[in-house]
Order: sequence, then structure tokens, then C-alpha cells
Amino acid sequence: MTQVSQTNSYANAPRDAGQEVPFDLRELIYSRTDDRGVIQAANDVFGRLAGYSFREFIGAPHKLIRHADMPKGFFHIFWQYLKAGEPAVGYVKNRSKDGRYYWVLAAAIPCDGGYFSVRMKPNSNLFHTIRAEYANLRRREEKEDLSAEASAEILLERLNELGFYSYPEFMSQALQEESAARDAGLGRPADKVAAHLTGLVTALTDALKEQTRLVGLFDSLKLLPVNMRLIAARLEPQGGPISQISMNYKTSFDNISERLTKFVTGEANICGRMDTAVRRGLILTNCARLHLEMSSHIRRPESGTEGSERRKEHLIVEKLGSDSQKRVQASLADAANLAASLIAAAFEIRRLVLGLDTIRILGRVESRRDHVFEAACSATLDQIDSVQAEISESLQSLSNLAVQIQTSLSMINATRAKAESAQAAQAAAEAEAAGDDGIEHGFMSGDPSDAADMGLSAENDISDGAPRYAAE
Ligand SMILES: Cc1cc2nc3c(=O)[nH]c(=O)nc-3n(C[C@H](O)[C@H](O)[C@H](O)COP(=O)(O)O)c2cc1C
Repeated sequence: MTQVSQTNSYANAPRDAGQEVPFDLRELIYSRTDDRGVIQAANDVFGRLAGYSFREFIGAPHKLIRHADMPKGFFHIFWQYLKAGEPAVGYVKNRSKDGRYYWVLAAAIPCDGGYFSVRMKPNSNLFHTIRAEYANLRRREEKEDLSAEASAEILLERLNELGFYSYPEFMSQALQEESAARDAGLGRPADKVAAHLTGLVTALTDALKEQTRLVGLFDSLKLLPVNMRLIAARLEPQGGPISQISMNYKTSFDNISERLTKFVTGEANICGRMDTAVRRGLILTNCARLHLEMSSHIRRPESGTEGSERRKEHLIVEKLGSDSQKRVQASLADAANLAASLIAAAFEIRRLVLGLDTIRILGRVESRRDHVFEAACSATLDQIDSVQAEISESLQSLSNLAVQIQTSLSMINATRAKAESAQAAQAAAEAEAAGDDGIEHGFMSGDPSDAADMGLSAENDISDGAPRYAAE
């Protein structure tokens, strides 16, 4: 998995000005919005950290808690993913009503009629790195008057420089690192499926590197048969056997190159697509786990009340959890199909390379008929020999990696169903135990009676009793 450069360690991160709102590792914040980001429901941890009453934030746009230190480039990326129907993950600094701040790792996902976001307290080294990145980007936004798009581009470039090949790679790692740090902090075991998928990501990174190496090797082979033909043309002006062999070699080589290009670049980029599917699976696995935990928090009756709004919200979050699990299954099935295609593609290319080998050997035999010819061609033929040997070795490694990925995926699939029911039981037990943890796990939605159930502080309630922001 990507290692973040230590030169960007949090030693350089600017300290946040102002006071931080206390936020316990055990707590999860959630909110649900409509499709424009207007808040429809949230839990009481959201209300406590944001410092707003239920009446103030229900119906308010989410930017109610936007902190001026947050770069607009981040929100640009965040919305791009949500609008594409994909999960969006990122570190967010929020501002509470009294001017204090709190950092979260937010995992948002589209749901029926809008979006849903669960947040946890960030705790990893990656968080401190990103905090420093945001501070620099925010300064640039102001100094250079950057648009949201331009700022987003700079953020993606910086993430690339930090070793994240794509934003999904960053999202999957941030969510995995924070989930693992939270599990460790809470003294509970790490999620097995997520841990297996994290291991798989390493094999995928290796496969992507092998794929790049293979393309490079083919590239370096491209000119060699042309060189051979030039030499042959000098020595065999009438077009002798070596010219013919070089031409045959080039035709076969072009055919293989075309197939290789089809498999490794553009839409057919098998390794890239497999990597995307597994990372998506990892993001969704961690999201599903958060949804499950959140749903068991909501299910708990607070102060003996069990309003219909709470039940409705519980059903929404529970459905999200099971939908996310189904999407994990679909992503992993995609990845398994791609692994099978990669094995078949590597086999096919190896078969074609064997044909190329026959032509190469013919060229070697033919060149030995004439000393002058052998002397002129031997360097080029040696190069062809060595590049072809490397190509065969690279195809073998790619094939081995694809088999390893396929095996891991079937193991993960076999244990996933088991882990899902274990997770459900664990989350339910934790929710039960949370009754004694001193943390309130309440919930608020469009029904104002819930606000009273939550016992929100009177000073937060606005005097006229009307929502400050009405849903537009
Ligand atoms: C589900 C969901 C959760 C969000 N959570 C936050 C949040 O915690 N803090 C925040 O500043 N913006 C959050 N946003 C994004 C806001 O809607 C908004 O885009 C952001 O505050 C930037 O506002 P601006 O573009 O008007 O500057 C969330 C949006 C959605 C859909």
C-alpha cells in the first residue's frame, strides 16, 4: 500500500487556531441530506459538536458548519464523487456555532433522495499530512484567487506526489487507516475482510507495476526488427532471407503489441480496472461497517422513547448498510472476473510470444550462414534475445499475480458472508454495551418532537422556535 512521504510529516503541519471541540473516538457523527446537501436528519453527536440545536440545523444547508480553513478544491472533488453515485471520503475541518473547530474523516454515500455521511475522529499520520496539505492549498487559493476546479486539480496533483495514484486510492487508504486506528484505539479486532482487501491492494499495485514494465519492454523491442531489416538491406540488396525474417518478426510483433495495448490501456486496462474494483470494495466494506454500527446506535431507545421518525431513520441506515454490502459483493465479483480475464490475456500473449521466439531463432540460424552477416547482426539479435526473455518472465509474473489475486478474492468472498453476520452481531453487542459508556447515541430528524427527546440545551434553541434555514 502507498506509503506517505515522511518529508510531509505532521511536524510541519500548522497548528489549528482556536479551541477544539472534544470528540470521543467511540462517537460517530452522522447526517443525511437531500440531493442539494440540505440537512434532513442527524444524530445528537452532530448537534453537540456543531453546537446547533435541532431546530437550527434541520433544513439548513450543510455549509452551516463549513470552516474557512477548508479548501474549496476538496468540496469540488467530494461532490464530483457523490454526484457520480460513488462514495466520497475525505478529511473535513468543521466549525461549530461558537467558533470552535473539530476534524472528522467523513465517508459520504448517495442514498434514496440524497446523501448520507458518517464521520469518525481522525487519528492517523495520514490525517496530519493532509491537514498540512489543506493549509498550504488554502493559502494558495487565497493568494492566487484559485477557482474550485483549479484548487481540486492542485490537490489531486499533491496527492499524486504523495504516492496516491488516484483519489479512490487515497479514499480507500484514508478510510482503512482511520478505521484500523479507531479499532486499535477502542481495543477491538480489526475487520477481517478489510484487512484481506488491504493485502490484496499490495498484489494489485505489483500487478500494475508489472503491466507498466511489460509495456516498456515491448516498446524497447519495437525498433529492433527494423534495425535488422536495415542491416539486411545493406548486406542483401535483393531482399534475402534475413530481410524476410525481420519483416515476419515485425508483423507478428505488431500483432502482439496491438493485443497488449488493448489489454493494458484505455478502457480495457485490466489491472487498472481490477485495482479500482478492489479499492471500491475496500471503501464500501468500511462504509458498510460504519453504517452497521450507526444503525445499531440509532436502534437503541433513548430515554424510553422510540419515535416513528427514529424507526424510519433506523430503516434508512440499515438499508444503506445492506446496500453497501451488496455493492461490495458486486465490486469483488467484478474484480474476480477481471482477474480471470488477465490470466487468459497473459496466457494468450505468452502463446503469441512463443511464435515470435520461433522467428527469432530462425533469424539467428540464418545469420550464422554468413560471417559478415553474423558480425553485423549479432548485437541486435542479442538484444532481441534478452528483451524477449524479459518479456516471457514479465508475462509469467503477471500471470502468477493474477492467479494470486483470484485466489485471494475467492477466499475473501468465502469469508465475507461469515464476517458480515459476525459484524452485525458485534455492532449489536457494542450498541448494547454503549448503554454504559456515558455517550449519548440519539438522533434527530425533521420531526421537532425528537429535539425535545434529545434534551438539547435551551441556549441553542432559537427564540422564535422556527427553523433558521428552511429547506428550499
Ligand atoms: C452528506 C453530506 C455531508 C456533508 N458534510 C459536510 C460537513 O461536515 N462539513 C462541510 O463543511 N460541508 C459538508 N458538506 C458539503 C457542503 O454541502 C458544502 O458543499 C461545503 O460546506 C462547501 O460549501 P461551499 O461550496 O458553499 O463553500 C456535506 C455535503 C453532503 C452531501
